[in-house]
Amino acid sequence: MEQKEYTAIIPVAGKGVRLLPYTAHCPKTMLDVAGEPIIAHILRQVEACGIKKVVFIVGYQKESLIEFIRTHYKHLDVTFVEQDEPKGLGHAIYLAKQAVKGPCLIVLGDTIIDGELKPLIAQDKNAVCVKHVEDPRRFGVVELQEGRIVGFEEKPEQPKSNLALIGAYAFLDSAELFCALEEVISSGKTVKNEIQLTDALAVLLTRGLEIVPVEIKNWFDCGTVEILLETNRILLERLSAAASVALGSQIIGPCYIAPGAVVENCVLGPYVSVSEGAVLKNCTLKDVIVSRGTHAENKTAAHTILDKYSH
Ligand code: G1P
Repeated sequence: MEQKEYTAIIPVAGKGVRLLPYTAHCPKTMLDVAGEPIIAHILRQVEACGIKKVVFIVGYQKESLIEFIRTHYKHLDVTFVEQDEPKGLGHAIYLAKQAVKGPCLIVLGDTIIDGELKPLIAQDKNAVCVKHVEDPRRFGVVELQEGRIVGFEEKPEQPKSNLALIGAYAFLDSAELFCALEEVISSGKTVKNEIQLTDALAVLLTRGLEIVPVEIKNWFDCGTVEILLETNRILLERLSAAASVALGSQIIGPCYIAPGAVVENCVLGPYVSVSEGAVLKNCTLKDVIVSRGTHAENKTAAHTILDKYSH
C-alpha cells in the first residue's frame, strides 16, 4: 500500500509558565534536553514517519524557534502560522486549516514519545496515542467499551477511565477535523477557558467516525524542570555518542557534548548534556542541562538547568 502524505501540525505557541525563568526568552519546545531542543527530538520522530511538510503554530517568543527551524531543517517544507491569543489547543490547530490538506499528524510541542510515532500512522485510521496514568484529571481522557473509543473528555473532575491522551493524534482527513473544530468553536464550548482539541474528537465520534487508540509504553511530558532533568537522564543513558573534545576534563558518563561546544578543565557527569555553542571552563557539573549558548566559568552545580540568561 502506498503511504499517504501526512502533514505534521506542531503547536508550539504556549508560554510554559511552569518552566520560568527558563522560558523567559524562548518557547517551551526550545528548551534543551540531551543536547537538543525538545522540538528536535519531536522532528526526528516526525521525519522517521517519512513526513516532509510541517506546520508550526507559533506565538510566544516565536523568533528563537523560527530561527532554529530555518537553520536546521532547510530540507523540510515548513509553514509558521501565528496564534496571537492563547485561546487553547483546539483554536491553535484550527488555525492550520488553510495550510493543511489531506491526512495530518498532530504532535504537541512538549511531547516526546518514548518510542516511535510510526505505529500511530501505520493504523491507516484516525488514531490517538494513549497511556494508562494514575491521575487522569489533568489530561484528555478516553472512554473505551470493548476496546472501542466511545467518548472523550478534557480534564474531567470524575474521569470515566485512566486512559489519557498523551498529545499525538493522526487524522486521515484533516477537513473533517477542521469541521469538527469549527463546531466546537461556534458552540462556544470551552474547558478551563480554552477551546479544546479533545472536544473536537468527541464531535467526530458523534458523527460516526472511528478513532482507534494506540497505547504507548511511556512518554516525556516536558512541563517541569524535574521532568526535563529526568528526561535528560533517561535519554543520555541511551545515547551511545561519546563525549567529543573536552580539553583537560574528566567526563563521567553518561554525558553528551554537542559538536562545537567548548569544555575545558571541567568535571562533568554523570548526566550532563551540553548543547551547541556552550562554553564551559573550570566547571564541576552533575545532573545538569547546559543549554545552547551558555557561557560558564568556575561554576559548581548539580540537578539544575544552566542557560545563557539565568546562571
Ligand atoms: C493537552 C491536551 C490534553 C492532553 C495533554 C497531554 O493538555 O489538551 O488532552 O491529555 O495535552 O499532555 P495540556 O497539557 O496542554 O493542558
